[in-house]
Amino acid sequence: MAKPEIDEITGAETTGHEWDGLKELNKPLPRWWLWSLWACVVWAIGYWIAMPAWPLVSGYTEGLLGYSQRVSVTSALAEAKEAQSEFLEKIAALEVSSIKSDPELLRFSLAGGAAAFGDNCAPCHGRGAQGAPGYPNLNDDNWLWGGKLEDIHQTLVVGIRSNHDDTRDNPMPAFGRDEILTPAQIADAAQFVLSLSGNKVDTAAAERGKEIFAEQCVACHGEEGKGNPELGAPNLTDRIWLYGGSKEAISLTIRNSRAGVMPSWEGRLSPETIKQLAVYVHSLGGGQ
Ligand code: HEC
Ligand code: HEC
Repeated sequence: MAKPEIDEITGAETTGHEWDGLKELNKPLPRWWLWSLWACVVWAIGYWIAMPAWPLVSGYTEGLLGYSQRVSVTSALAEAKEAQSEFLEKIAALEVSSIKSDPELLRFSLAGGAAAFGDNCAPCHGRGAQGAPGYPNLNDDNWLWGGKLEDIHQTLVVGIRSNHDDTRDNPMPAFGRDEILTPAQIADAAQFVLSLSGNKVDTAAAERGKEIFAEQCVACHGEEGKGNPELGAPNLTDRIWLYGGSKEAISLTIRNSRAGVMPSWEGRLSPETIKQLAVYVHSLGGGQ
């Protein structure tokens, strides 16, 4: 073998190849690099043998360990279900009002209720249950149909003006559309309603409105306009408005009525989920 040529400038061995006076230096890959490469190759072969790896015409090589993500997810799910079912059975057996006295069950219900709320209720009531015009805020202690745990549970089961046989329902008349009141009387009634929550109003109109209110409205909204949760009639004195507190919004409500609708959840959600939701909504801050 010829003696290897040493390049004068770098002092490195050359391969003996030369192009137009350029000589190729003999620079092998570093040993650590080569060892890493071989280690990876050996690891890969081991992995192919041990784990599912190669696609076949039908199916795939399953590997000696027989690992399958699907199997492990299924068994993790089964375990979670098993753990849940213990709680769900307890919830099914209890009245909704008794759930709170078991701290573990309460924690489970709040978590389950929050998840179900995000999936089913947030589109109308908002992620934080803060509500929107026409959709009540569920965080405050202002309730149309009552804020006790049992009331909330009942609201969820039967819905409001829903197609459930026992739905909560109490239609406010459309005083304008059905010509029960004249536009002038509606304007007066609106002035009186505004005065109930301390707004500055045309006092003469509000005086006339007061009489109309006594005749037409107290049956549902009460003598003092404080509402009635038996009838879903809102408190008109508290400055909390479902449909807006401007003169225009109030006149529109009196003229056409509103008749907000909430679906019944019986049959759509399991009884256990509805109980968890009731506990969750009740816990949001306004529960009575
Ligand atoms: C399609 C829209 C919609 C969805 C979805 C919806 N709601 Fe409602 N919800 C309403 C409306 C509208 C009202 C008010 C009805 C009225 O004017 O009396 C209401 C009222 C309520 C009330 C009564 C509030 C009170 O002041 O008495 C509760 C409690 C409630 N919703 C909880 C829920 C929960 C929990 C869910 C999810 C399971 C849910 N809602 C899903 C529209 C909806
Ligand atoms: C038969 C019962 C009933 C009568 C009578 C009635 N209301 Fe109502 N009123 C309701 C109900 C129920 C609601 C809630 C409607 C809804 O949630 O969609 C309501 C809602 C309202 C609202 C909206 C409140 C808000 O928070 O946005 C106003 C304002 C109002 N009523 C004024 C009146 C006035 C004024 C009269 C008389 C001229 C009257 N109501 C008569 C049942 C009644």
